[in-house]
Amino acid sequence: MGGIQLKRMAVLTSGGDAPGMNAAIRAVVRTGLEQGCEVFGVEHGYAGLIAGKFIELGARDVGGIIQRGGTMLGSARCPEFRTEEGRTKALRELNQKRIEGLVVIGGNGSQTGANSLAAAGFPVVGVASTIDNDLYGSEITIGVDTALNIALETIDRLKVTASSHQRAMLVEVMGRDCGYLALMAGITGGAEAVLIPEYETQPEEVVREIRRAYERGKPHAIVVVAEGARPNAQGLAQYVKEQGARLGFELRVTILGYSQRGGTPTYFDRYLASRLGAAAVEQLAAGKHGVLVGIQKSEVATTPLAEVMAGKKPLDPRMLELARVLAK
Ligand code: F6P
Repeated sequence: MGGIQLKRMAVLTSGGDAPGMNAAIRAVVRTGLEQGCEVFGVEHGYAGLIAGKFIELGARDVGGIIQRGGTMLGSARCPEFRTEEGRTKALRELNQKRIEGLVVIGGNGSQTGANSLAAAGFPVVGVASTIDNDLYGSEITIGVDTALNIALETIDRLKVTASSHQRAMLVEVMGRDCGYLALMAGITGGAEAVLIPEYETQPEEVVREIRRAYERGKPHAIVVVAEGARPNAQGLAQYVKEQGARLGFELRVTILGYSQRGGTPTYFDRYLASRLGAAAVEQLAAGKHGVLVGIQKSEVATTPLAEVMAGKKPLDPRMLELARVLAK
């Protein structure tokens, strides 16, 4: 492959955990060892980096984790790392431990941190991992598939009980700023309506959709609502409650919340994480850094972290249309 002989590298997981992070850690460690490198795990993301919490990891230390959700290294959101002082401490720890390359597994906040380390001249490679799938530079990110399958399992069950009672069900899925999970769960779960943060929806429009579903002879109505949608599930439920009998249907709310983050990673997430973790180490070993490793056109691809920060990943408008058409 050429490049440099890396002697010591480190890996951390940061931000919201995502099913498949463990598979990515395993891939980083074992690929690093294959390259003849000593590999260290950093505990609890950037907080552990600042505090110098490094543990050496061998091949057996990452055994039996590929099938586990969460992250064996722990994760954190770390406000201190957003300060100059915090980053200086982290760089000092990296230098003291003689680490020559760092892999950061995480989403937008984590890659922002990675970008600031890269800007300070430290060799860092990001691995695209977030259940939100809102990271520019990767068509799909680690954890999305598992989170969606968890949402689908619930939606399928809710449809059964909704049909028995002719009820409408609101299902709130994660996604504070991005409606990807809601939209895809809506399409593949057969929802009558989807509410996402990207578009404001009038409560009356949702009521109209639910009514139309009953008029078309459906025994239920499922509305998937992203956590960050306006209104959110609670707001909609409140509206329906205030309107009372006028609406002519009963509505119940299920909030999936964090359960979507805690699942057993699917085949897809394990495979994706294995590929991206290995590719991140190969980048470092080839002397290439300051990039995010993700998937583009089904292949592993790299994007400069600065570009990832500047880019926005919009929802595919064709998916919005598909959700509408298939709700018939
Ligand atoms: O980024 C993943 C995510 O689960 C979002 O969907 C959600 O809005 C957020 O994290 C929750 O963050 P926290 O774990 O800090 O409560």
